[in-house]
Amino acid sequence: MGSIRSVVLMQLMILLNVILTVKASTPAVAKPGCRSRCGDVIIPYPFGTGGDCNITAGFFINCNTSFIPHKPFLGDFEVINISTDGQLRTLSNTSYDCYNTPWNRLFYYFLLSEFSINNTKNKFTAIGCDTVAVMQDFDGQRYATGCLSFCNNITDVSNGSCSGVGCCQTSIPKDVRSYNISLGSPFNHTYVLPENPCSYAFVAEIDSYTFSASDLRGFEFKSRQFPIILDWKIGHNSCNEANMDVDNFACKEHSKCVDSENNSGYLCKCLEGYEGNPYLPNGCQDINECESMSPCNGTAICTNLPGTYNCSCPGGYEGDGKKSGTGCSLPNKDQSKTSPLIAALGVAIGFLGLLLGIVLWCWMLRQRQISKLREANFQQNGGILLREQLSKRQGYREDVKVFTAEELEKATNNYNESRILGQGGLGTVYKGILADNQIVAIKKSIIGDPSQVEQFINEIMVLYKINHRNVVKLLGCCLETQVPLLVYEYITNRTLFHHLHNDDATSYLSWETRLRIATETAEALSYLHSAASIPIIHRDIKLANILLDDNYTPKVSDFGASRLIPSDEAQITTIVQGTFGYLDPEYMLSSLLTEKSDVYSYGVVLMELLTGQKVVCFKRPEENRVLPLYFTSLMKEDRLLDILDPRVLNDENVEQLMEVAILARRCVRVKGEERPTMKEVAHELAGLQAIAKHPWSKSNLVSEESEYLLGKFPSTYDDGVTSSSIGMGYDSINNKITFELEGAR
Ligand SMILES: *[C@@H]1O[C@H](CO)[C@@H](O)[C@H](O)[C@H]1NC(C)=O
Ligand SMILES: *[C@@H]1O[C@H](CO)[C@@H](O)[C@H](O)[C@H]1NC(C)=O
Ligand SMILES: *[C@@H]1O[C@H](CO)[C@@H](O)[C@H](O)[C@H]1NC(C)=O
Ligand SMILES: *[C@@H]1O[C@H](CO)[C@@H](O)[C@H](O)[C@H]1NC(C)=O
Ligand SMILES: *[C@@H]1O[C@H](CO)[C@@H](O)[C@H](O)[C@H]1NC(C)=O
Ligand SMILES: *[C@@H]1O[C@H](CO)[C@@H](O)[C@H](O)[C@H]1NC(C)=O
Ligand SMILES: *[C@@H]1O[C@H](CO)[C@@H](O)[C@H](O)[C@H]1NC(C)=O
Ligand SMILES: *[C@@H]1O[C@H](CO)[C@@H](O)[C@H](O)[C@H]1NC(C)=O
Ligand SMILES: *[C@@H]1O[C@H](CO)[C@@H](O)[C@H](O)[C@H]1NC(C)=O
Ligand SMILES: *[C@@H]1O[C@H](CO)[C@@H](O)[C@H](O)[C@H]1NC(C)=O
Ligand SMILES: *[C@@H]1O[C@H](CO)[C@@H](O)[C@H](O)[C@H]1NC(C)=O
Ligand SMILES: *[C@@H]1O[C@H](CO)[C@@H](O)[C@H](O)[C@H]1NC(C)=O
Repeated sequence: MGSIRSVVLMQLMILLNVILTVKASTPAVAKPGCRSRCGDVIIPYPFGTGGDCNITAGFFINCNTSFIPHKPFLGDFEVINISTDGQLRTLSNTSYDCYNTPWNRLFYYFLLSEFSINNTKNKFTAIGCDTVAVMQDFDGQRYATGCLSFCNNITDVSNGSCSGVGCCQTSIPKDVRSYNISLGSPFNHTYVLPENPCSYAFVAEIDSYTFSASDLRGFEFKSRQFPIILDWKIGHNSCNEANMDVDNFACKEHSKCVDSENNSGYLCKCLEGYEGNPYLPNGCQDINECESMSPCNGTAICTNLPGTYNCSCPGGYEGDGKKSGTGCSLPNKDQSKTSPLIAALGVAIGFLGLLLGIVLWCWMLRQRQISKLREANFQQNGGILLREQLSKRQGYREDVKVFTAEELEKATNNYNESRILGQGGLGTVYKGILADNQIVAIKKSIIGDPSQVEQFINEIMVLYKINHRNVVKLLGCCLETQVPLLVYEYITNRTLFHHLHNDDATSYLSWETRLRIATETAEALSYLHSAASIPIIHRDIKLANILLDDNYTPKVSDFGASRLIPSDEAQITTIVQGTFGYLDPEYMLSSLLTEKSDVYSYGVVLMELLTGQKVVCFKRPEENRVLPLYFTSLMKEDRLLDILDPRVLNDENVEQLMEVAILARRCVRVKGEERPTMKEVAHELAGLQAIAKHPWSKSNLVSEESEYLLGKFPSTYDDGVTSSSIGMGYDSINNKITFELEGAR
């Protein structure tokens, strides 16, 4: 509570979208949710196409989609290449001054205040046989440069040489951010017409243009475009200054900051041994040197380490194992002379021994690699952090059990397919049998993210603190595998979805069971929202995430989506997630996550329980496909009875269903603030349940209002009813509950 709105992600299953480390995944270039290319051009962050995709307005790339393929523009300039090491290529036009009739000229200019033209990589070039070309900055104050080119006879001109005959070139001063080009002809091309009617000038990347005498003829050269290399950098501060403003510092994990030449602005570079985009969280990823460059000498074992690698010589050999170093060799030993027979025997035995040795060695190697990998994974997945946390905290419900990879392998019969209980986009759940015959559910997420380690640990700690009979219990975790594994108690009786929507017409949940499940689920959520020491927002409440045990006691599960609210908004927008139909529209629009999003999803669950209908059903007419809309529109038309589940609806419980319907309706109000809290919901449902159990407690009440609930609602029910007024409404009308219902349980 308080200042930090912390929502916790309980089930790391997911650890979210951005997760990396999977070797096969291609490293991100743009921010999540941003376009990473425009046409053929890759747009790496800090560049982007608007909103939070670009770091500042100066890095805004206008992707013009009216071209096929799409073309990116920086200001007026088409961009053809962007690299994260501080440069980009744009296209510039050729200025011209032509003495045909009618006389025509066009002088282009350049202005991008955030970017400078790299003076070592570009040149100013002019061509023509009667040409004076000048380039100066916009206000004509800081620099002016240019060159002259003349030829008496176009036949004098030689290809490839820009030395003043037909073509001239000059270099550009440092830190040029604007230029105007102007061209002049002392003799109006009089003496070189008609062979050379035009003078041309342009700024271009060195080597992008090779002079050819034929370019002097005609007018085609007017439409040529040339690449220019521009330098970019972040901000106007030095690294030291920028570093103080941690929130806005552009260099992320595993990168270093590099000052620009005059300490105005900086660039980020991945540390040695890492590659990727240093401006993105986790952009710099470890290079697997062992795979990419096999740096070790033939016999040595290569181990990839974060940022580096290690070559180690197998037992009996010495050296540093590196290709570039001493390699691995057998230590020198004195060789004694032996007879040929013994030598042959020796060779044979030696050979056998060697064979055996190799087999043994391979085996050892494998074991060693495995254990090394496990240790590395353990560290990467925060095992050490977890141990630390554990040592700090005493008096927990029970110790966090840290399982070994082996234990879980055994428990799942080596992740045998037959043990799969469920599979989702985010991971697979296996049924496991531990050594002590305890049955557990083991979740294996698809990917793990080192940057999330701290959160991961935090979440494990939080999950451990949660002890609620209606929340699935986390028993432990395993950090030795590349992706963390989570071990849960095994819930025997499948999901609420299965029980509500199976096609078996003979078995269905009775209304009492549904109400009890709804109440207990509400209590669990209310507990998560308020009773737990850090408020937890589940974010993916749906039938499929409510497990049932043999007594139909609900257990809220799958906390994959719940999490701490990240502090910067950009991230929130990337993680809007949930299940269609259950997803809070307000959250979807604003990305602002609150407890009320769970209330919305819960309201939808109530509607499903009331109607027995699926959230999204294509058998319904188009405007009614999404249950919350269908439900509320029927309610508005007072036709709710049309949709209530006929299998459970009867004269005795119709009022109660109506009450729950009103509650469900309030839960899905568009404005989060108008929805009740989970606590209020739990309270009301508990009230309904209690009354249902003890109908005698109020059997003497009159029932004048009951007709309302059989088709018509007084308008006060429709808008903003407080929990107490609902309770009263209920009390005053419900006088028909009989014992039959009790018997049905
Ligand atoms: C990205 O560029 C657009 C267009 O200039 C601008 O509106 C937006 O504020 C920029 N984003 C940031 C984070 O500055
Ligand atoms: C895209 O380019 C076309 C043609 O040059 C131009 O008319 C249009 O305004 C551009 N669109 C944007 C969004 O810049
Ligand atoms: C370059 O020339 C093309 C074609 O004439 C024009 O559309 C574009 O705007 C020019 N670019 C600049 C930066 O002036
Ligand atoms: C962009 O630059 C990279 C590296 O300099 C190069 O490999 C790539 O071909 C370039 N792409 C274009 C479209 O020029
Ligand atoms: C110009 O480019 C070179 C080579 O890429 C680079 O070393 C140099 O720092 C750049 N100049 C500026 C001012 O950034
Ligand atoms: C450069 O060109 C711009 C735009 O055409 C113009 O406003 C400016 O005055 C020119 N500067 C010089 C020194 O000619
Ligand atoms: C250019 O040189 C060619 C051959 O060298 C000659 O035939 C021609 O008359 C010359 N043109 C001029 C304008 O001097
Ligand atoms: C110069 O190059 C052009 C084509 O680039 C060629 O047609 C011409 O013959 C060359 N001239 C000389 C003098 O080599
Ligand atoms: C070139 O043309 C301009 C304008 O058409 C004229 O004022 C000038 O005198 C001419 N110069 C020569 C050398 O012909
Ligand atoms: C340093 O950068 C600033 C800001 O771009 C620029 O105004 C200044 O001229 C540069 N100084 C030097 C010495 O390059
Ligand atoms: C590299 O491997 C050798 C031999 O296994 C070991 O002694 C050394 O500590 C390792 N270095 C690192 C940085 O892990
Ligand atoms: C391995 O190192 C040894 C000793 O330096 C060297 O003789 C051998 O050629 C190296 N082998 C390879 C494959 O690099």
